[in-house]
Amino acid sequence: MKEKVEALVREIEEFIATSATEVEQFRLKYISRKGIIPELFQQLKKASAEEKKVLGKHLNELKKSAELKFKALSAGSNTLTSVEADFDITLPPVGGKLGGIHPVSATRDRIIEIFERIGFNTSEGPEIEDDWHNFSALNFPENHPAREMQDTFFIEKNPDIALRTHTSSVQIRVMENNQPPIRTLSLGRVFRNEAISARSHCFFHQCEGLYVDENVSFVDLKQTLLHFAKEMFGKDTITRYRPSYFPFTEPSAEIDISCNICKGEGCPMCKYTGWVEIAGSGMVDPSVLENCGIDSQKYTGFAFGIGLERIAILRHQIGDIRLFSQNDIRFLKQFRTL
Ligand code: DAH
Repeated sequence: MKEKVEALVREIEEFIATSATEVEQFRLKYISRKGIIPELFQQLKKASAEEKKVLGKHLNELKKSAELKFKALSAGSNTLTSVEADFDITLPPVGGKLGGIHPVSATRDRIIEIFERIGFNTSEGPEIEDDWHNFSALNFPENHPAREMQDTFFIEKNPDIALRTHTSSVQIRVMENNQPPIRTLSLGRVFRNEAISARSHCFFHQCEGLYVDENVSFVDLKQTLLHFAKEMFGKDTITRYRPSYFPFTEPSAEIDISCNICKGEGCPMCKYTGWVEIAGSGMVDPSVLENCGIDSQKYTGFAFGIGLERIAILRHQIGDIRLFSQNDIRFLKQFRTL
């Protein structure tokens, strides 16, 4: 009987089922009440006490391996190793890990949401841009020092083609192809030939805003950006404008908001000034409108440029701009929304 049991162990181990019928055949042949194994247990009753001890142990092992094999075959596997012996396939799954939305994407989506509600649409342009759209049409004269405000990556030594340094290039494309009223946001990646540090990167994201219509004034610019600042950073937020220079706007201003962390009291984020910068802005220079075929006698407009990383840094108090592009799971995990 011992040999018989050993042969059965091997037979069971090697059994292969390719269909549910074959799995059932396995059960009937070995495990069911009229199967071989219960039959052997019946025979064991007639054995001597000495034999019972040894054979009983072997038979129990045979029974156990037949049951495990049946479990494995039922789960669609022909080997025992690929199925955990005591794995209960009826248990509910352990909670899966879902990804999150990148903080720059979440900031972009929130900005779009805020401006969409006051009538802005979105527009796109290429990341590889020509000199006209990135510089000349925006009033950067050739060989003018203003071009050096933005360190540019040129493509294959062709001074006419570059990676766009700002999304202001898209406002030119929009104005070339549309007549006012225009209310649009251009969001996307921009590139600067700058040393990478905690405070600056060679690529980042911008949101360019443009509003052109009859009678658009600096008051519209101020109210629109005050509305944005309150929606983004809370209703107590206030804005201030500092005179600045950009070739494509006249007058130009840099926009600060009251520090959203210390509420103007002074903290490391605002370098103890109570204010943080969020955008460049101004009234579209009439010659830029004319460059795009828009009548500057009839229409006026305002524009602004916001750095998305800058806004995300302020929203989440992030200390290093490099974190946004390092794909470090420990950083990204903190923004899991689900
Ligand atoms: N393009 C500017 C930059 O990248 C930002 C900017 C400033 C955009 C003033 C504007 C503006 O539309 O009016 O530095």
